[in-house]
Amino acid sequence: MYHLTRYIHELCALASFALFFVRGVWMLRESPQLSRRWVRILPHGIDTLLLASAVALTLMLHQYPLTDAWLTAKLVGLLVYIGLGLVALRYGKTRGARAVAWIGALAVFLYIVSVALTHDPLGFFRAMT
Ligand code: HEM
Repeated sequence: MYHLTRYIHELCALASFALFFVRGVWMLRESPQLSRRWVRILPHGIDTLLLASAVALTLMLHQYPLTDAWLTAKLVGLLVYIGLGLVALRYGKTRGARAVAWIGALAVFLYIVSVALTHDPLGFFRAMT
C-alpha cells in the first residue's frame, strides 16, 4: 500500500511539473490553449491528488511537517510553488514578471524533489555546503 501511494505521489508530481511547464510556455506565447477547459481543470485534479497522497504518506511514515524538518521544508516549498504559480499564470502584471515567477516556481519544484530524495531540508543545496 505504501509503495502504491508513493508511486501515485511520484506520478502526480511528474504530471504536475509537466502541466505547469507547458502552461508556462503557452502563457509566454499568449496561446489560446491556456483557456481550454481541460487545461484549467486537470491541474487542480492532479495537484489535489498530489497533496492527498502526501498526507497519506506522512500518516503511513509517522513523519509530519513541523515535526520533521524535511517535511516542513516540502510543505513550505509547496506553498511557495503555489504562490509563484499564481503570479505566473494569473496575477502577474507584465509578461516579464510572469516569466520570472514561472522560472522561480520551476526551480522551487526541483528543490522540493531534491528534499524528497534526500530527506534533508537543504536538498540539493547540501552538496554545495
Ligand atoms: C510539489 C510538491 C511535491 C513534490 C514534487 C513531491 C515529490 C516527491 C517525490 C519525487 C517523492 C519520492 C522520493 C523517493 O522516491 O525517494 C516524494 C515522496 C514523499 N513525499 Fe512528496 N512531493 C511534494 C509534496 C509533498 C508534501 C507537501 C508532503 C508532505 C508534507 C510530501 C510528503 C512526502 C512523503 C512522506 C514521501 C515519502 C518519502 C519516502 O518514502 O522516502 N510531499 N515526494
